[in-house]
Amino acid sequence: MPHPLIELDRSSPEPLYRQVRRAIEHGIAAGTFDPGHRLPSSRELSAELGVSRNTINLAYQELVAEGFVESRERSGLFVNAEMRSPCPAPEQRARPRIDWSDRVRRFPDAGVPHLEKRTDWHTYPYPFVAGQMDVSAFPARSWTRCLRDALYRPHLFPALQDSVGADDPMLVDLVCRHLLTARGIEADPAEVLITVGSQQGLDLLGRALLGPEHLVAMENPGYLDARHIFLRTGAGVRGLPVDQGGLLPPDDLADIDLLYLTPSHQHPTNVTLSIGRRRRLLELAAAAGTVVVEDDYDSEFRYQGSPTPALKALDGSGDVVYLGTFSKFLSPGLRLGYLAAPRELVRELREIRRYVLRHPPGHLQRAMALLIDSGEYQRSLRRYRTKLMRKWEATCAAVAEHLPWPQGPYPPGGVSLWMTGPSTLDCRRLAERAERDGVLIEGGDLFFLGGEPPRNHFRVGFAAIPPRAIEPGIRLLGQVCRELLG
Ligand SMILES: Cc1ncc(COP(=O)(O)O)c(C=O)c1O
Repeated sequence: MPHPLIELDRSSPEPLYRQVRRAIEHGIAAGTFDPGHRLPSSRELSAELGVSRNTINLAYQELVAEGFVESRERSGLFVNAEMRSPCPAPEQRARPRIDWSDRVRRFPDAGVPHLEKRTDWHTYPYPFVAGQMDVSAFPARSWTRCLRDALYRPHLFPALQDSVGADDPMLVDLVCRHLLTARGIEADPAEVLITVGSQQGLDLLGRALLGPEHLVAMENPGYLDARHIFLRTGAGVRGLPVDQGGLLPPDDLADIDLLYLTPSHQHPTNVTLSIGRRRRLLELAAAAGTVVVEDDYDSEFRYQGSPTPALKALDGSGDVVYLGTFSKFLSPGLRLGYLAAPRELVRELREIRRYVLRHPPGHLQRAMALLIDSGEYQRSLRRYRTKLMRKWEATCAAVAEHLPWPQGPYPPGGVSLWMTGPSTLDCRRLAERAERDGVLIEGGDLFFLGGEPPRNHFRVGFAAIPPRAIEPGIRLLGQVCRELLG
């Protein structure tokens, strides 16, 4: 009978019999094995694959036990016809009955562009991407220890049980005592919700507070993902201008239901909101009853002076909603963050979250709690901040040397530089052309709201790129800029 080529990987830790069994099982599911025919005998297959008959027999025994294969007396082993995939190959399938493009809900952000995040960025020699991290800086050994410890008493139940709507009390306590206090915020556990990242915090706030009758204000340029999330609720979104001192407060916030901003390092320009403007915005919000949402995504990364306290720390009412994340320092792939807000709001957000994903994985929450509790979180953060500071210095020096227009000074924080080229520079063309030389940058036009966005801005992220690639990468980028600008 025809049977697919079974490839065995002798260096794999997976036992050979399991590999044989998996290959046959896969062949049955894919319809490669015809149920009418006999499987090769263990003698034939062992000779063909160069393994012992015992290996083949073990694989067959499991396949029989699980019903993939049936043993017919004196005839041999046959594929169980019922196990054959009912699923024809894609080209043989009938046309779908449902026109899915017509069925799926249309969201009001349909016309807004998306940040094109590449997942193959690490295969490029000069990945000046934002939003990724240097995986070699991740405290893998300590994290592994915390993941393991989280599976032993007394951590076992919080790590593995269904906590329904609750968070890990140990993590919440440590967030309150260590992370929020470091930002000048006093919160008790009922005022904290663990999230699967700031993005979820924004989504929950959108579900709880926004609808078509509401208006959101945010920085322009600003965080494109937040804009999508707000628009998807049906709310209107208005951009407020940003300059060197951060968001420019409008005359009033009377018609604004929610103000979203990134005061520590404005996204994407990295400027810090001045203290005078912070006070003014809080006054305006209090007068208008506007909900203020502070996204404090990377305040840890300050390379000169000390980080400014959070906006929420200035707010006597406690009404400011604060979003924190583990994405920038530890890893965006962990999907863990937290928010601090008045307890009534946290209660409501928890209820909403319960019907979305119940709670962020308990095992991850407890491991994160153990990492913070052991002191390793702070130690790794200090090490990572020093690494990033060197990269920030190297990137500032390289752009000053190689880019063909006057540079800087750049705000001493964040994980990227916001570049403004001459008005004739087209960041889209620059990004495309640089990519051909292995240099990845992000065009800046996407971050602007409305009309005809300027095309002469772009972002150079330095968190993910290896230090030795910074200078040659920026040198190449400089050459491409010269070429495009003529
Ligand atoms: C402005 C801003 N907020 C938040 C985040 C982090 O989001 P999350 O915690 O969902 O990974 C990012 C990441 O790129 C960001 O740029």
